[in-house]
Amino acid sequence: MAVIATSSSLGLAARLAKTLSQDMILIEEKSFPDGERYVRVPQRIEGEAVLVHSTHPPQDERLIQLLLAIDAVKNAGASKVIVVVPYLAYARQDKRFMEGEPISVGVVLRSLQAVGADAFIAVDVHNPSSLDEWLKIPHLNVLPAAQLAEYFKGVLRHPLVLAPDRGALHRAQAVAEVLGASYDYLEKRRDRTTGEPSLLPKSIEVEGNDVLIVDDIISTGGTLVLAAKSMLRSGARRVYAACTHAILASGALDKLYSAGVSEVVATDTVPSPVSKVSVAERLAAAITSLL
Ligand code: R5P
Repeated sequence: MAVIATSSSLGLAARLAKTLSQDMILIEEKSFPDGERYVRVPQRIEGEAVLVHSTHPPQDERLIQLLLAIDAVKNAGASKVIVVVPYLAYARQDKRFMEGEPISVGVVLRSLQAVGADAFIAVDVHNPSSLDEWLKIPHLNVLPAAQLAEYFKGVLRHPLVLAPDRGALHRAQAVAEVLGASYDYLEKRRDRTTGEPSLLPKSIEVEGNDVLIVDDIISTGGTLVLAAKSMLRSGARRVYAACTHAILASGALDKLYSAGVSEVVATDTVPSPVSKVSVAERLAAAITSLL
């Protein structure tokens, strides 16, 4: 089996190759003078290939690279390409929220399948049912709750794990179960036009607790800032933030620390200063189960 990586997630790909006891083959990448992308697999591939490529910003460029890379790996001789996308861009547009919109995640997943992906693995897809809905190839959604929880073992005193909205409750629950903590959720709304989040009033008893807020993505940090401020106002001793994908747009980390968050921790699906927890072993197990 060959582990083939692009520059989008080198650290995670290297850790994954090591866990699978495989060498890593690095895809050559460049841009043409007009901005078009070029990729090349530098050697013939025998047998199955695992292509690792995350689609964090700049998402559109990375998506094109991924489509090109799948085709290139196939043409380099791979008998089967397992496409591993640690962060799947466009996953949040999983339905038509307003008339006239596309279902972006469907467009992305169908495209990957159309260019030759034989199997697909992603980490903590915003709405996991998107994979079942749009993919006909074997697919897996790897959840890193246990790894994130392990990081916080021994760090938190009287922990309460909190989801910033009801849809994220399963993440908070999974982390809380590993920590032996209780869990709850906030009621978040997002303005469909401005994208601005707001919290509905909800009373949660956190006096003296260390609150760990768990979400799939930190993008602008707006959601977590609201949640953290609300918990600190309610008497939480300390507030920590954990996410799977540290997109960290627009100075998100500064906003979180200014809001009083003690520490932000993410997995390595997106390279960032807070990507302290690796999903390599979970991905290796998922790949092995698909072989
Ligand atoms: C949305 O439903 C997601 O689960 C995250 O809560 C959201 O993407 C976070 O975005 P931001 O950091 O910009 O508030």
